[in-house]
Amino acid sequence: MQSTILIAREYGTPDVLEFFDQALPELAAGMARIKVKAAGINPIDARRMTGEFRHAALPQGFGTEFAGVIVDLPAGASHWATGDEVLGSGAGFTHATVIDVPLSNLVARPANIDWPVAGSLAGVAQTAMTILDEIGDVRSLLIHGGSGGVGSITIQIARARGIEVVATASARNLGYLAELGATPVEYGPGLVARLEAVHPALFDASLDMSGTEEATQASLARVRPDGLIGSIAGTPPSSERVQALWTKRSPAKLKAVVDGVAAGRFRWEVSKTFPFSDAADAYGAILGGHTRGKSALVF
Ligand SMILES: NC(=O)c1ccc[n+]([C@@H]2O[C@H](COP(=O)([O-])OP(=O)(O)OC[C@H]3O[C@@H](n4cnc5c(N)ncnc54)[C@H](OP(=O)(O)O)[C@@H]3O)[C@@H](O)[C@H]2O)c1
Repeated sequence: MQSTILIAREYGTPDVLEFFDQALPELAAGMARIKVKAAGINPIDARRMTGEFRHAALPQGFGTEFAGVIVDLPAGASHWATGDEVLGSGAGFTHATVIDVPLSNLVARPANIDWPVAGSLAGVAQTAMTILDEIGDVRSLLIHGGSGGVGSITIQIARARGIEVVATASARNLGYLAELGATPVEYGPGLVARLEAVHPALFDASLDMSGTEEATQASLARVRPDGLIGSIAGTPPSSERVQALWTKRSPAKLKAVVDGVAAGRFRWEVSKTFPFSDAADAYGAILGGHTRGKSALVF
């Protein structure tokens, strides 16, 4: 079977991206072959494209999550059948027409979740669950950059756990933050005073999705001295109080979020979809850093 895979042979701007046709080898044990219907786009894809992160040797493929249809299975894979609709984390890359994925990564796609939503769930859902478990038992939480992929679901899971959330975004996303259940605050000059106005007590913890120095300084000013100041941004922090947090794979935690989206408990906004052929435009857009909710490639 053939797959068309998005690759880059060098680091740079989106014009380094190209499509590469490859005949897939025989399916390995423990893997499912998936015809991809949609795949979320994450900032890490574009940051790997530019060379800011160099996890993989060149040429490199991209994409961490997918939704699609099983087209091949190894003998004895009894839990799944060809034709089943699934979603999850990929293995190596997902921005391709056909991919091989470990069976252990698969979660069934609920019928009422459309393909772009299904394809963009895995990465940020597992990140949100990881980081909220890491901060532990808190009653108030400050989130910097709450309107993007990770922030949108982190706010909602935190609210469902009874945590009071104040989140920042640009002016155009303040209404969206309020709809997700957070008290919205605009980032930018004067941030510390605006945070204090809406939340006079110090926060139990903060999570930074933006990686800005402004966010670090605001957390240092407004989080309790013994509270966790976490960042997922992957940029070097200017204070040793900032703890870098990294996502951990957990199909069980992913399924908990999938169930919440299917039941209508969590809102999941895919604000932009791009045909796979327009992947370069999609990567340019995510690099801008102002995606509301998620963006996804559709196939
Ligand atoms: N450590 C990990 O395991 C892990 C996992 C997933 C993601 N990440 C990283 O975490 C970051 C967030 O990911 P994401 O998918 O949520 O990104 P995203 O969808 O692009 O969202 C970015 C967010 O940052 C906000 N923002 C932009 N400029 C800002 C500024 N100057 N000050 C404060 N907020 C600002 C945006 O709000 P406006 O649009 O309103 O400006 C938006 O809410 C990325 O750097 C990503 O690479 C790390």
